[in-house]
Amino acid sequence: MQPMTRRHLLQWAGVSAATLVLPVGCSAGGKGEDGKKGEDKRGDTYPFTLPKLPYAEDALEPHIDAETMKTHHDKHHLAYVNALNAALKDHDDLHKKTLVELIRGLNDVPEKVRMAVRNQGGGHLNHSLFWMMMAKDGGGDPKGELAKAIDTDLGGVDKLKDAALKAALARFGSGWVWLVFNKGKLAVRSSANQDNPLTEGDTPLLGIDVWEHAYYLKYKNLRADYVKAWWNVVNWNDIAERYNAAKKS
Ligand SMILES: [Fe+2]
Repeated sequence: MQPMTRRHLLQWAGVSAATLVLPVGCSAGGKGEDGKKGEDKRGDTYPFTLPKLPYAEDALEPHIDAETMKTHHDKHHLAYVNALNAALKDHDDLHKKTLVELIRGLNDVPEKVRMAVRNQGGGHLNHSLFWMMMAKDGGGDPKGELAKAIDTDLGGVDKLKDAALKAALARFGSGWVWLVFNKGKLAVRSSANQDNPLTEGDTPLLGIDVWEHAYYLKYKNLRADYVKAWWNVVNWNDIAERYNAAKKS
């Protein structure tokens, strides 16, 4: 596994894939060790690799327990990476595509492999984002321009949390709840399975995994308790960086 550092923080910039910087292991033309954009080939494209967690497995305790983190990352996320690689193995034409290009351009992926890219590629991308959207000293309130935008577009952070909870509870089965940016505005969305907002043209800023594997060991069937607790580990700095990058693009 490759290390995932602040230098590799995601900077979602909604329009051009070239401006997206993902953690090593799933990046889309991100900066390499030498700082040259687009030259980091460690997992940029097929074969994809599992990025290392940016903190210890128990760093998010007591809100997200260590056993869940370990299983979620080492088993579930790894399974998405392996299944994506297996699906793309015989599709040389897709080996030069970055993960973001595959997901954003899902409708252009050959039909034979499209569902695998949607589910396994989406799973790899979503989880790579998710680890960075949380932090050991997370929680609190957003600051700066992001806070102003949340006030203006959503009526404040409490309203954002209410909307996210509603979306989480309304999502039947497995999926994600997102704070997205599109055409200068923030919005709360949810997606089924491992679908990512990029495919719909939205830029994901924040995502909450509401698959049972994300919470069942600690919260059992109480999805609402997990979603409420999740805000104690949200990495607002990461969300703000992604928001600022998206706004500039
Ligand atoms: Fe998950």
